[in-house]
Amino acid sequence: MEINIVNVQENYIDDIFNIEQSEIIVPWSKESLLGLIRQQFIIFRVMLKDDEVIGYYSFQKICDEGYINNIAIKREYQSQGLGTKLFEDLIERAEKFEVKALTLEVGKNNNKAIGLYEKFGFKVEGVRKNYYKNSEDALIMWKR
Ligand SMILES: CC(C)(COP(=O)(O)OP(=O)(O)OC[C@H]1O[C@@H](n2cnc3c(N)ncnc32)[C@H](O)[C@@H]1OP(=O)(O)O)[C@@H](O)C(=O)NCCC(=O)NCCS
Repeated sequence: MEINIVNVQENYIDDIFNIEQSEIIVPWSKESLLGLIRQQFIIFRVMLKDDEVIGYYSFQKICDEGYINNIAIKREYQSQGLGTKLFEDLIERAEKFEVKALTLEVGKNNNKAIGLYEKFGFKVEGVRKNYYKNSEDALIMWKR
């Protein structure tokens, strides 16, 4: 299987939206995803297996900090090292754009995602109580 990571295009949004719907507690709407693409200082990349969208991430660069908006791998491709591959691309882009620190929010019980972030040196620096609609707390993680 050939895996490539490319810059987002509008024609990937339907597939990204479908992954959001199945994987994320509070999924982004199609309009919000399209809005993200059009923002300045956005890095939004898509993982393709041949022509199939199997993952994506985006982060916003604000001064020298990067705010990760979303990252996901399609369900049937999870836990096979692809999230790691996608995150390596994110780190590479962050370095290229001179981002000095990265941050994100993650559900306190989302062990897979927390495992991924810890692997890349992220540490918990704060908690937002009852942050998600299922009242799960969010951990605020930073890599500095
Ligand atoms: C989080 C996510 C992007 C990780 O991608 P992935 O392809 O599953 O991750 P990888 O296979 O590369 O594994 C990376 C690390 O995640 C953790 N992990 C992966 N699968 C796991 C599992 N089944 N159980 C526990 N931890 C797991 C491990 O720490 C792993 O590191 P290791 O392989 O060195 O042990 C993916 O699982 C996903 O899309 N989840 C749903 C969406 C989501 O929660 N996004 C984050 C919102 S904040």
